[in-house]
Amino acid sequence: MITFTINGKEVQGQDGWTILEVARWNGIEIPTLCHHGALEPYGACRLCVVEVNDGRRSRVVISCMYPIRAGIQVQTESPRVANVRRWIVQLLLDESPESPKIQELAKTFGVTPSRFKKAGVDFACHLCGLCVRACQEVVGVQVLTFGNRGLRKEITSPFNAASKECLGCGTCTYICPTGAMDQVFQRVKGLEGESHEH
Ligand code: SF4
Ligand code: FES
Repeated sequence: MITFTINGKEVQGQDGWTILEVARWNGIEIPTLCHHGALEPYGACRLCVVEVNDGRRSRVVISCMYPIRAGIQVQTESPRVANVRRWIVQLLLDESPESPKIQELAKTFGVTPSRFKKAGVDFACHLCGLCVRACQEVVGVQVLTFGNRGLRKEITSPFNAASKECLGCGTCTYICPTGAMDQVFQRVKGLEGESHEH
């Protein structure tokens, strides 16, 4: 067993566990968006940040990917953590102001829409990848994928065509935290052989 502290409390976990896993095991809340217990971690949203001091220096890391080590001191609510988290929630809220999950996060962190709010977008996809991983790891098919790169990166089906593999189970829409998958789902299902040009 590996022993370390979270917010001054001594905790233990097994080799290979992440800080997030040990925190949850001990009832310590760390907010997450792109994490799901049934899926492999992905590290996309950065909401799960914590501060880790290894005795030499202190840095902010993403807890869903960071493996535990003996003797580290983890802070889940330090001022540095709070600043990064608020900034992330602000970006999420400005992109998906109508999403209940994002609104809930904003309320928790006291974040209100900024004047940089994107016009006309209420349920933006944050590329958290939950839908892609759920489709692959839980349902066992590979209907969804990341298309394009950089700013134009998006969730779509391979070759932007309707997938014959899609079971229409809706797991992707269920797991999507923002509501963005509803539209993608309709598009992927509705294309029926047409190609989708951008
Ligand atoms: S559609 Fe939803 S679940 Fe899929 S990547 Fe975007 S926000 Fe995440
Ligand atoms: S939950 Fe860790 S990066 Fe998203």
